[in-house]
Amino acid sequence: MTHLSPTDPAELAAHGPVIPVIVLERLDDALPMAEALLAGGVRVLEVTLRSNAALPAIERIARALPQAIVGAGTLRGPDDARRAAAAGARFGVSPGYTAALGKACRQLGLPLLPGVATSSELMAALDDGHRFLKLFPAEAVGGLALLKSWASPFADASFCPTGGITPANAPAYLALPNVRCVGGSWLLPGDAVRDGDWARITALASAAQALRGG
Ligand code: 3PG
Repeated sequence: MTHLSPTDPAELAAHGPVIPVIVLERLDDALPMAEALLAGGVRVLEVTLRSNAALPAIERIARALPQAIVGAGTLRGPDDARRAAAAGARFGVSPGYTAALGKACRQLGLPLLPGVATSSELMAALDDGHRFLKLFPAEAVGGLALLKSWASPFADASFCPTGGITPANAPAYLALPNVRCVGGSWLLPGDAVRDGDWARITALASAAQALRGG
């Protein structure tokens, strides 16, 4: 992971078909949770900035587990990008795209996987050089049909659909030529994290890592 482009962080998808979307409530869960995912072969971890534990968790994982590629999700503006980079995030993910966020990430050298849901948003992100994007919220905005419709007019774009992706529908997404990987929270069931059932998370990670387009 030495060549993550700020606008085409395609290498994120080279490590496996699924990027786990992580909402962490307890900082002390950060390392065992990351270790459980790593044990299942999942190295790319998106820790969303939706809790007070998120930034210190990113810092902790980045320091203690260099084999993990930890990034920050739910970046909504330049300040989020700055905080994420300062915590040691190796990449950022955003639910939508703004020029201000894109500019801040480029200035920080923080690779960004920006969220888009419409053709106009996609065109704005492409204008700023982003070629690898998150379709969000994938199932709610058209999912497979939308991605198929975008393949021809936006042949230079590829996607990480996120939002409503499950082990059941992931293979159909992964089979599309313009999909590199998918994102999902199903690897981290709330009760498994709460109960410290790390073996279950490792099993879910292994199964996710084995997913292929079908
Ligand atoms: C999110 O931002 O919460 C992700 O899109 C995860 O969605 P999911 O819970 O449907 O996987």
